[in-house]
Amino acid sequence: MSKVVTLHEFIMNRQADFPYASGELSRLLNDIAIASKIVSKDVRRAGLLENILGAQGSTNVQGEEQQKLDVIADNQFINMFKVGGEVCGIASEENDDFMPFESDFSRQGKYVVLFDPLDGSSNIDVNVSIGTIFSIYRRVSDLGTKATLDDMLQAGTEQVAAGYVLYGSSTMMVYTTGKGVNGFTLDPYIGEFCLSHPDMKMPEMGRIYAMNEGNVNICDAGIKEYIGTKCQQIPEGAKRPYSGRYIGSLVADFHRNLIKGGIYIYPATTVDPEGKLRLLYECNPLAFIAEQAGGIASTGKERILNIKPERLHQRVPLFIGSKQMVEQALACL
Ligand code: AHG
Ligand code: MN
Ligand code: MN
Repeated sequence: MSKVVTLHEFIMNRQADFPYASGELSRLLNDIAIASKIVSKDVRRAGLLENILGAQGSTNVQGEEQQKLDVIADNQFINMFKVGGEVCGIASEENDDFMPFESDFSRQGKYVVLFDPLDGSSNIDVNVSIGTIFSIYRRVSDLGTKATLDDMLQAGTEQVAAGYVLYGSSTMMVYTTGKGVNGFTLDPYIGEFCLSHPDMKMPEMGRIYAMNEGNVNICDAGIKEYIGTKCQQIPEGAKRPYSGRYIGSLVADFHRNLIKGGIYIYPATTVDPEGKLRLLYECNPLAFIAEQAGGIASTGKERILNIKPERLHQRVPLFIGSKQMVEQALACL
């Protein structure tokens, strides 16, 4: 029987990959794991507790109704970052503005974190998979000062680490520090994330496409063509067309495609001319993971990771997944 490797051990072992690392990134990743265990505990009981399930009665800066769990998860992560000492400021989907941490202690933090505390929140009440997505950058402002907007608006290529936690049939954390992608499953009996998916690779070609097809007539005609001709016809040598799978939680749709191979599309539409998904805390972290696993992430026009962000809650179209499938889709645009 092989030895169980916990996330904590794995992070510590990998610290040697960064010759000048002082352990702060390792501590930060561990803090994220702990916060997500606490959120996972709430998610697992959501249907039972009135203070967890349902709408909060407020809207966020993007005009979306906040769920109680959006706010619970947001606070849980923010508190963890505030007391951890590695982070000088954060930005999240649920906060209008970025949040520089005020204490002298926090101002010594080297990193900023941008995150979507609860992705797929419309799925909470119907007991369908949801997640947390995070992106970590080294600050560009001086150590000891207050975090700035420039710290937050860095191109995805500058990410030091990125990952997500999926609260699915089991809870999993998947992350990269730019040296491959590894996945850990939470063993609820010992309360530890354990290495279950080492060195994850996205199949170059898959047979799953994920798009909200309700949007097919209000987006670029090339997408309709791609879906109609490539996804919904029987490819040469195959027995059936691709399978359409759309969960409506980006993180869950992405995770399935990472494992099985597939493409995920959220295009610009006449309703959301810039796309719906947010560059900084949805697209960039998943793009980093996709590329590390051998996949591609594009807006249709450019590589997601190359975009120089202009706004905190900036939206972009997203084509992400298996290399050959995304290339094929882009060729139809
Ligand atoms: P969030 O719950 O963080 O606001 O994100 C919702 C996103 C994403 O998770 C999902 O893939 C997409 O919105 C679904 O949008 P549609 O309902 O328009 O398909
Ligand atoms: Mn989201
Ligand atoms: Mn969210």
